[in-house]
Amino acid sequence: MTGNRGARSGKGSLGILIPGLGAVGTTVIAGVMAIRRGLGLPIGSVTQLGRFRQDPNDEQSERIVKDALNLVPLDRLHFAGWDIFEGSCYESAVESRVLEKELLQTLHGELSAIRPMPAVFSRDHVKRLDGPNLKRGRSWFDLAEQVKSDIQQIRKEQALDRLVMVWCGSTETFITPNQQHESLAAFERAMSANDPGISPSMVYAYAALSSGVPFANGAPNLTVDIPAMVELANEYQVPVCGKDFKTGQTLMKTIIAPGLKARMIGLSGWFSTNILGNRDGAVLADPGSFKTKEISKLSVLDSILDPKRYPELYGDITHTVRINYYPPRGDNKEGWDNIDINGWLGYPMQIKVDFLCRDSILAAPLVLDLALLLDLAQRKGLRGPQDWLSFYFKSPMTAALGQPEHDLFRQQQLLHDQFRRFAS
Ligand SMILES: NC(=O)c1ccc[n+]([C@@H]2O[C@H](COP(=O)([O-])OP(=O)(O)OC[C@H]3O[C@@H](n4cnc5c(N)ncnc54)[C@H](O)[C@@H]3O)[C@@H](O)[C@H]2O)c1
Repeated sequence: MTGNRGARSGKGSLGILIPGLGAVGTTVIAGVMAIRRGLGLPIGSVTQLGRFRQDPNDEQSERIVKDALNLVPLDRLHFAGWDIFEGSCYESAVESRVLEKELLQTLHGELSAIRPMPAVFSRDHVKRLDGPNLKRGRSWFDLAEQVKSDIQQIRKEQALDRLVMVWCGSTETFITPNQQHESLAAFERAMSANDPGISPSMVYAYAALSSGVPFANGAPNLTVDIPAMVELANEYQVPVCGKDFKTGQTLMKTIIAPGLKARMIGLSGWFSTNILGNRDGAVLADPGSFKTKEISKLSVLDSILDPKRYPELYGDITHTVRINYYPPRGDNKEGWDNIDINGWLGYPMQIKVDFLCRDSILAAPLVLDLALLLDLAQRKGLRGPQDWLSFYFKSPMTAALGQPEHDLFRQQQLLHDQFRRFAS
């Protein structure tokens, strides 16, 4: 089966498929379960708490996002996933140390019932991890077929009407876009030949798209941001989006930078450093995975500040990003920013930001929103990269594979414009 049932209506059940049941994956799943039982609020979720104006100039036209867009309600969501470790969602959530043990204990039965399916994995792509729960196959192509049959089985066993996939797996080592990514035919040849330019996340994405399942990429991996995958998404009429959830430090950057620019305040340097101690931090201690993340984090300032148009303000900026693995901090990351700005007659000033955040608490509502909005996009017949979802990403994919929008407020405008089109 390729298409999703109930494609036009918001009725029926939605399965959220998650490769990578680690800190973010289990926090969104446990969070939805807790919210359904009235044990918490969906804070950070635009689909659950947000409003928009149908007519931007008319206050009376304000509507609640989830109602106006007819999104699937939380009690009709189901979860399944893959991981290289065998532990259930309960065990993984306890190990991730994001949510309190008492809350997890309350959800023990539901969380324990979700066990990860064997993963497509390669240590060549994530050097600092290894686990036993793996698929075996002759080629990437063969492994994609196995993921496709997992998808079909879940759809059947859980009697799901529609499915979406959100990648919450580890950051893979940097891959340079190459000829094998240029067209679907070349990509499929490379899959059969076990080409190292193909990574596990691409295998899941290929399986999802060719099963008619929309795909969101929460990591900075190349994955679907290549012409071959866009071709596949268009062929199967499926929407895709990515890359890299915009959560802590980059979220702050894309809030502060547009403000400085709005007041024509100059910038000479932005030094960002982080300490984090979760498994994501351990993976990012590998230079290959860090490079993938660094490129994603560095890209935002240029596009917001537009140094070509404002060379006197932004023509010579030093922008540095560091991530340090520091186990005692666990998932509770600390991100410091030193921002060197200049004002009237060039006089220098400094801004210091110290964000004591919780990575997975910030990322979980994004996974929920993306799943519900991709499902909606598919029901509305949208396909290929969804620029209006750039609001959620550090390195947004664009339809023409062109320049993405990074300014959070312009991204919110794109999101609301699309909400208005959907609701009219
Ligand atoms: N938390 C945030 O704020 C945030 C923001 C942006 C991006 N991200 C990205 O989201 C991803 C998940 O973050 P996390 O904190 O949950 O990390 P995590 O290490 O806790 O979880 C990742 C999980 O993916 C599993 N995994 C790795 N490769 C896999 C594969 N091929 N198939 C199936 N499972 C696989 C790992 O075993 C692990 O359980 C990372 O790539 C991270 O960079 C997170």
